[in-house]
Amino acid sequence: MEDIERVVADERQIAKKVEIAARWLDERFAKAVEPVAICVLKGSAFFFCDLVRAMKTPVLTEFITLSSYGDGTCSTGAPKLVADLSSPVAGKDAIIVEDIIDSGNTLVLLKELLFERGAKSVTCVALFDKPARRQKDVKADFSCFETGDEFLVGYGLDYAQRYRTLPYVGVLKREVYAGKK
Ligand code: PRP
Repeated sequence: MEDIERVVADERQIAKKVEIAARWLDERFAKAVEPVAICVLKGSAFFFCDLVRAMKTPVLTEFITLSSYGDGTCSTGAPKLVADLSSPVAGKDAIIVEDIIDSGNTLVLLKELLFERGAKSVTCVALFDKPARRQKDVKADFSCFETGDEFLVGYGLDYAQRYRTLPYVGVLKREVYAGKK
């Protein structure tokens, strides 16, 4: 794809990590009663679907839409709740499935929200972790890949809503978004 500078995780590498993350979750939730996996839309959609299907442990599925990037490459710092979960999480083991942890603002907000609503436990699995950009002291319990301060797109990750459907994750060429931040 001409807008991609370099691929950081191809389909095979992603599939391998999804399998490892699924086994990690299976082990952790072997004795849990109906944990609920929460897909943080839109970015996590593809990772979420692959991950929950690779798990052997039955999980309930829920979806929440949080957004803080708009059409830019920098977080606004204040994630907005665009669409809420459709059922209560009180007393449940919640598994947040994220595509990327960047500033950490989204994860902090979501963890607070779930605990306020009475979740029994909250675990976060992320496809990518970008520790260099962290603003909040938070991290995923399991992350598949670590990345530096590069703008990634594909497999759910977007720039201005584009590139989500690429089957791999790659670094977006700077010229695509330069001057638009
Ligand atoms: C992205 C991503 C995470 C969040 C991480 O969502 O999907 O949810 O940002 O960034 P943070 O750690 O700086 O909060 P975005 O707000 O871009 O919405 P999207 O999922 O619809 O792309």
